[in-house]
Amino acid sequence: MTQNKVTVLVPGRIHPRVISRLQEQFDVVTVADQKGDLALDDATREKVRGVALSGKLQAEWVEKLPNLQIISNFGVGYDGVDTKQAAARGIIVTHTPNVLNDEVADTAIGLLLNTIRRLPVAEDWLRSGRWAAEGPFALSPLSLKGRSVGILGLGRIGLEIAQRLEPFKVKIGYHTRTQRSDVSYTYFSSLKAMAEEVDTLISIIPGTAETHKIINAEILSALGPNGVFINVGRGTSVDEATLEAALRNGTIAAAGLDVFYTEPTKAGGFLDLDNISMLPHVASASVPTRNAMADLVVDNLIGWFDDKKVLTPVPETPVKA
Ligand code: GLV
Repeated sequence: MTQNKVTVLVPGRIHPRVISRLQEQFDVVTVADQKGDLALDDATREKVRGVALSGKLQAEWVEKLPNLQIISNFGVGYDGVDTKQAAARGIIVTHTPNVLNDEVADTAIGLLLNTIRRLPVAEDWLRSGRWAAEGPFALSPLSLKGRSVGILGLGRIGLEIAQRLEPFKVKIGYHTRTQRSDVSYTYFSSLKAMAEEVDTLISIIPGTAETHKIINAEILSALGPNGVFINVGRGTSVDEATLEAALRNGTIAAAGLDVFYTEPTKAGGFLDLDNISMLPHVASASVPTRNAMADLVVDNLIGWFDDKKVLTPVPETPVKA
C-alpha cells in the first residue's frame, strides 16, 4: 500500500538492514551522532513520527519531537530509552525479545566455558607459537564440573541459559523478584542468599535504576574465592571497580563479561588480569539473529503506522486495544 510517507528518525548507527527496509516505505532521516543537540530543522522535527533506535535516545530529543508516536528499539534491553517520559507522552516503545534468546544463551555458555577453562588464552598460546616452543598450556585452575550455578534473572533468556546448563550436570538455582511456578530450579528470594549458596553467578538482568551496581562488594564476597561471575545482561548492574579489586585480591576466582558499565570500552582496569574473559558485547551478534532483530524493529514500525498494532511493545508502554 502507498503510505502517505511517514518520517522515521534514525539517531546514530543501526543495523543496515533496518535502514534499507525502512527506506522501502518511510522517509528516513538520519542524524550521525546520538550525543549533543538534535541537529534537525524545525520542519523536520515536526515531521518525525517514529524513531528506530540502537543505543541511547536522549530525553531532550524526545521533547523536541512533538509528533513522535513510537520508538522502535533494536535490542531486547531498552535502557537507552526513558520509558517514563515515553509513557507520559503516550509514545509506544517496542523492543526485540525472543528472536535473540537462543543466541544470547549460547554465548553465555561459551563465555562461561571460556572463563572457567581459559580457552581463548589457550588458543592464543597455540597461535603465538608458544605451544611448539614452550610446551603445553597451563592447566586451568577451575572446572565447570560440580559447580553450583545461580542465575540472576530467569526471564526469557535466563530460562534458555538454565536449560542449556542442565546437561552440564551442575546445580541450578535462580533469583528473580517473583518466584516462577513453572520451573523446578532452586529459588532464592534474595541475590545475597543466592550468592552465598552458589559458586557461579550468571547475570542476565536489564539495566534499570533497581539493578544499578547491585553486583557489589557484598555479593562478590558472598560468592567467595572459588566464585565465578558471568555477565551477559547489562554492565550497569556491576560496580566495576569493586569487581576489578575482587579479581585482583582473590575475593572471587574469575569473571566473564560481555557487557560493561560504559560501552564501548577499552576495559583498561581489567586488561592485565588473567582471570577474566571479555567480549565486546556480542551475545546476540550473529548475522541471522541480528537480521531477525532488524526485521522486528522495522515490523513494529510498519505495524504501528499501517494498523496501530505493534508486535513487541515493552510493558511500560502497553498499546491500548
Ligand atoms: C543486547 O544487549 C540487547 O539488549 O538486545
